[in-house]
Amino acid sequence: MSQVFHEIEKKIIKILQPNQILTIAEIHDKTGLESDQVRRGVEWLKLKNLAEVKEEINTYFHFENKGDESLQKGLPERRLVSEIKKGNFTFDELKSVLGSDFNAAIAFAKKNNWIEIFKENNKTLLKLTNNISESLEEQFLASCRNLTENEKIKKTKNFLPAIESLLKRPNFLSADEFKIQKISLNKQGKEINLEALSNLSGAIDVEAKVPEVFAARTHPLKDTIDEIREIFVTLGFSEIYGNLTQSSFWNFDALFTPQDHPARELQDTFFLDGISAKKIATPEQIRNVSESHKKNWRYHWDINEARKMVLRTHTTCVTIKHLAETKPDEARVFSLGRVFRNEKVSYKHLVEFNQIEGVVVGKDANLRNLMGIQREFYRRIGITKIKFWPTFFPYTEPSLQTMVYNERLGKWVELFGMGIFRPEVTKPLGITKPVLAWGGGIERIAMLKYGIDDVREFYNNNLSWLRSARKCQ
Ligand code: PHE
Repeated sequence: MSQVFHEIEKKIIKILQPNQILTIAEIHDKTGLESDQVRRGVEWLKLKNLAEVKEEINTYFHFENKGDESLQKGLPERRLVSEIKKGNFTFDELKSVLGSDFNAAIAFAKKNNWIEIFKENNKTLLKLTNNISESLEEQFLASCRNLTENEKIKKTKNFLPAIESLLKRPNFLSADEFKIQKISLNKQGKEINLEALSNLSGAIDVEAKVPEVFAARTHPLKDTIDEIREIFVTLGFSEIYGNLTQSSFWNFDALFTPQDHPARELQDTFFLDGISAKKIATPEQIRNVSESHKKNWRYHWDINEARKMVLRTHTTCVTIKHLAETKPDEARVFSLGRVFRNEKVSYKHLVEFNQIEGVVVGKDANLRNLMGIQREFYRRIGITKIKFWPTFFPYTEPSLQTMVYNERLGKWVELFGMGIFRPEVTKPLGITKPVLAWGGGIERIAMLKYGIDDVREFYNNNLSWLRSARKCQ
């Protein structure tokens, strides 16, 4: 079968056939092709087994501040010699002239065999030898002085010991390594008869591999959060915000969670050590909420317990605070954000995760509406197989949880908790219309979306997964 080459390939072959070994940049210069075209053409030729690419590392050097100084004023050991020639012989005199370079100057001057050190009348003196020829380092520096602006300092054999010695001196010289690819044709490549091919039209191999490009992207979890936010906004909800730290009053008491509830124990909740809120709510709110606890749970309600600050354990505190402040007759709001629970980290639990919380208030709002909204939300996120299961929360009645089917694992997993706020919650805060509320973990949803079995994967910074995670499902 006769081979078909693209114009790009032909140009590259033509340049390389006379035994050339060139870089991408050189091929670009000689052919006038764009660097990207050259790269692609080389990739095609490589796949056709006609070209070879060898990687080489080129080392260049640049001077740092001490190096620059020596380029201008001479190396410290040379400056030492000049000083001695001027008639300064004692350590003290030389030290005051050379400053911090003194020690290096002495060491290298000794090494070059330029000086002798001796004592006279209890003073340490220096004397020059007869052997003060230009050192290899100095020859190297001299060669660098002739470089034009854009020329780089290359690694050259003659100066290797000088370069190595200067690299060891602090702030003189640094090495920069550049990888370059050298491209050549192999035997078959060299044997291609371009003249004979000239009548064939070029065809593009649309299946040829191209280098992978990893563009910057947002984190998959962030994408999920944005997607959820967008769904709520398009469903006509507005976002509400709240603090990550809350008083126990709003995180628990206002939600009719008794003060001896297990969720309020140290092993479940992160308390801010020794921090209590001074003003937790209005006196009326505190009075009504405490009355509701006393009357319905029948125990001694302690305001100091309500003052204890916590890292919020759910976003429902944001919901209830908002409702207590606005007392709406009608509302559709949602909030998004981090919550914290003192749990043992595992494939399905993190101590810090994200929740979405939604609320609908309206005089006719009912359980059927609540389930309908869930179904619609899940449908929009791409989950269709769901069912509702009765459950318990201190603040809702009835309480449900959605179970969704994980096709991959072949089992039902629980997602959102929800319910209608109990009158014990709404009445003390002056909320008069039915409140539908629901909330749940965003990581759980992201796990379903991305087919992930271990929630920790979202925080591992595993580049290969981050790169491969699909932007759209
Ligand atoms: N706060 C509950 C949780 O964190 C979810 C929930 C929100 C339940 C609103 C009922 C009402 O799991």
